[in-house]
Amino acid sequence: MSIDPDSVTVSISPEAAERIAAHAAAMDAEAMEAAAAGGRPLPADADRVWGEVAPAVRAAFAAADFAILRGLPALEGGRMLIAAAALLGRRFHTYGGGKVVKIFAMSPWRNDLAHTAADGFFHTDLNASPQPPALTGIQCIVPDPGAPQYGVNRVVRTADLLAALEESGQTNALHFLCEETVGLANDRSTKVWHGRIVSDGITRYHPETVRAACRRDGVDAPEEILETIQAEALRVSRPFQLGTGDMLLLSNHRTLHYRGECSIAFQRFPMDFVARRIYVLHVSDEHQTH
Ligand SMILES: [Fe+2]
Repeated sequence: MSIDPDSVTVSISPEAAERIAAHAAAMDAEAMEAAAAGGRPLPADADRVWGEVAPAVRAAFAAADFAILRGLPALEGGRMLIAAAALLGRRFHTYGGGKVVKIFAMSPWRNDLAHTAADGFFHTDLNASPQPPALTGIQCIVPDPGAPQYGVNRVVRTADLLAALEESGQTNALHFLCEETVGLANDRSTKVWHGRIVSDGITRYHPETVRAACRRDGVDAPEEILETIQAEALRVSRPFQLGTGDMLLLSNHRTLHYRGECSIAFQRFPMDFVARRIYVLHVSDEHQTH
């Protein structure tokens, strides 16, 4: 089953957006980040400010394991994204220096996964860590200059991907995802995580971490299977765009996400260019919405 992104989109009215943005903008970004990182409630009664938007976001997320929010502005420091993600979870994941929000900007001069403009793979975030975060939040600061052809997003639920693989008789890929003990490693991991990719309600997956673990273990990566998974995930998902301020909140345990090839618009070669720029955060837990 492929989920229509429009069916999980919450469009926020200008009046509600103004009220929510004014509230988030008045907050001290550092205090907000400290509260979020400590798992403390954000200052003020968030549900009162969000009004009818809060149950709509939770309902979309409960139905599809992801939600798209349109109509809110991107605020400096990622405050709007923190406030929105707090509708679904509480304990925010922190990166170096106690930061909750990261900025990913595409660059023609970098080839690491977070910044390269190349077509991406369906994956889950922080998949080689002992406890991958439950939620990923993304907010668009600058859309891809080549949108709508470039910089598309896709989300597929693990359950829908497995059902599609089963239906098309891809038993090797199914076995790989659900039964096999697989290694996952990123460049920074000191050791390889070993386990089943889909187990205990958590999906951990990225072709590059599979490949990195295979390299370390001295075995060939299962390229055909990785290709099958990517092709099937593309088949059972639908593309959507995030405009400036639009947010995507997704379950990092029950879905895989993807970002299509990005474009770069040079204003003056080589360093003056427009490219996709997003805020990203992760939440360790999630409220029980279903
Ligand atoms: Fe990701």
